[in-house]
Amino acid sequence: MINAVKPFYTLRSDKCSLIIDCRGRAPVILYWGAKFNTIDNGDIMAALSIRQELPACQPEEAAIALSPETAAGFIGCPGVQIHRQGKQWAISTAIESVEASSQQLVIKSICSGAQVQLTHRLVLDDQTDILTGTTEITNVGNSTLWVDRCDAPCIPLPAQYTKILGFTGRWANEFQRQNIDRFTGAYVRENRSGRTSHDSFPGVILHADQTTESSGEAYGLHLGWSGNHHVRVEQMFTGRAYAQLGELFYPGEMSLESGETYCSPTLYGASTVSGLSALSGCFHSYIRNHLIDQNVANKRRPVHFNTWEAVYFDLSFEHLRDLADSASDVGAERFILDDGWFKNRKSDKAGLGDWFVDKSVFPNGLGPLINYVQAKNMEFGLWVEPEMVNPDSDLYRAHPDWILNADPAPLILSRNQLVLDLTRVEVQDYLFERLDALLTEYSISYLKWDMNRAVYQPGNGSGQAATHHQVVALYDLLKRIREAHPQVEIESCSSGGGRADFGILRYTDRIWTSDSNDAVDRLGIQEGFSIFFPPEIMGAHVGPRDCHITGRSISMDTRAGVALFGHMGIEANLLEMDIPQKQTLKEAIKLHKKHRELLHSGRLVRLDVPQNESAFGVLASDYSEALFSYVQQASLLHSVAGKLRFTGLDIDSKYELNVVWPPKFVGPSKSAIEQVKGSVIGGDVLVKMGMQLPIMQPETMLIFHLRRLNVDNEANS
Ligand code: GLA
Repeated sequence: MINAVKPFYTLRSDKCSLIIDCRGRAPVILYWGAKFNTIDNGDIMAALSIRQELPACQPEEAAIALSPETAAGFIGCPGVQIHRQGKQWAISTAIESVEASSQQLVIKSICSGAQVQLTHRLVLDDQTDILTGTTEITNVGNSTLWVDRCDAPCIPLPAQYTKILGFTGRWANEFQRQNIDRFTGAYVRENRSGRTSHDSFPGVILHADQTTESSGEAYGLHLGWSGNHHVRVEQMFTGRAYAQLGELFYPGEMSLESGETYCSPTLYGASTVSGLSALSGCFHSYIRNHLIDQNVANKRRPVHFNTWEAVYFDLSFEHLRDLADSASDVGAERFILDDGWFKNRKSDKAGLGDWFVDKSVFPNGLGPLINYVQAKNMEFGLWVEPEMVNPDSDLYRAHPDWILNADPAPLILSRNQLVLDLTRVEVQDYLFERLDALLTEYSISYLKWDMNRAVYQPGNGSGQAATHHQVVALYDLLKRIREAHPQVEIESCSSGGGRADFGILRYTDRIWTSDSNDAVDRLGIQEGFSIFFPPEIMGAHVGPRDCHITGRSISMDTRAGVALFGHMGIEANLLEMDIPQKQTLKEAIKLHKKHRELLHSGRLVRLDVPQNESAFGVLASDYSEALFSYVQQASLLHSVAGKLRFTGLDIDSKYELNVVWPPKFVGPSKSAIEQVKGSVIGGDVLVKMGMQLPIMQPETMLIFHLRRLNVDNEANS
């Protein structure tokens, strides 16, 4: 309902309150955090927040508004930067209307001087406690408006959030955590790779000094956008701090004609007083409830077999058929034909763009292979990389002008490929026609949608930078494909985890987390990933014994045990695998399937453990069951490991404890494991005291299963 603007607005969710102060010219977050038990009174809270200024400072501090304004005296980074040929740059808005419902606020502000309207939309989701926010800017003048910056709503940070947890990484080692103390100045991550990137994940966590995985206060922020972005956490000299996330534009990239609107990517925020695992719980629930296609969410996720590391470009029907036999034998349920299946694609030097089946490898098309795979009760999936073209391709020879560039700079080839300009209608139509034809002709249930290079030169045919429009065009293409083929699931891959964000998840169903299948490296990658994404989204494959990327040789027990906590798959040449390894793999897949429902719907709890150890659990939402993983990554400092506390179990229930992985655990002497196997133990003992871990070798792991006993079970036990 639109009424006269009130001084304060409150949104409440299950565990959070958000109070917006609309007394000034621009809206400000007065409070975002744990829900108040008493009725929150904005006036009192505002009075409690009055700050004084030293002489020589501004007489009155400028607000950290949802879009902080230079014209209001804000000397941090403005939330919106615009101009009309160098003029009308100073935005000074006044709130015009507020549309409020129990979960949502839409605040419209007008700047008559710059002739723009800003719309801030804030939604606090009742069930998941996720706050979503966007900033929209509309040109209400008559001339072209240049938008240099329009960030998602700015979040003021509580003083006690003195720690920054950011993310860095690289190809084959994504989602690495980076801990930094907040300082006076700005922590800034800028991504200009034209995709979400391997190295600058658009997310950040701000937390209190003592926050751990299981306790303490934190904010988690993520920008759902698959292109250029920036993350800024600034502590000003006044001590006040804020976080600002938004898109990063090249000069002249964003302009609005009269009446046109730009909307920032959505900011997703979680606030907790219960530690970082609880923060993840909010993001996971939000993805499950709001981003993932509900048809996929309600379906079991089939175990994959992917051909890439098994054969690379060396494809033949016979070889693939033999792999399909082995894959189905170990328990795979979907067979994905990776790169190399299309015209002239014998290596990564040629073929991208020519999305026609290579008749020299498949003289009768893909039909015979698909039929074979399906006869083995596996679904069929196919790899594509639609945004790219190799200069050595029929497509490029016919349309050399279809690519992005930075004229007059020489074109930069990366992995021997160039980037198609998706903003051209004819490019969109060509790609849609090709993908649609393949998906119509063949029974394909899954696409692995790859993007194997950054966009270094994002200029379009008219000489303008086009990263924003390229990302929008990609989303449009994905949407069009999904609408035409709703039964086809899509995986987002970009040389591994280079395109993992909530924006792409609106059009895809799974993320290829990393090209590295090294189980030890994967622990760190997967843990970082798990801060924002739930296990069922996380592609996790069992690779060959000697990892192709790191060269590390890891036992099948550990490779399979690490992969089974995600959307499990196999990516190794099964025809070269010895029988004991295959047998172990088969057992791991069986275990994964047995607990798949729990793993793909449960609550993830990461445990705080010393360096070189990794431990986490996945608990059923009703506490009836849990699986815990403990991995000893390297030799420990002490001769014996510590205790594993099964955090998250119901302390008022009793659980049967079993070690379910590896199939055979052999220690140097009798350990607690043999002693307690199958025992019924109080949840409080398991949580508060925990269990002494046995002596383990480096790079080995244990998986524990806990089953709650109800009163009937108990009587029988
Ligand atoms: C990327 C992907 C891999 C594989 C290759 C194929 O690197 O991340 O999984 O699909 O491309 O070229």
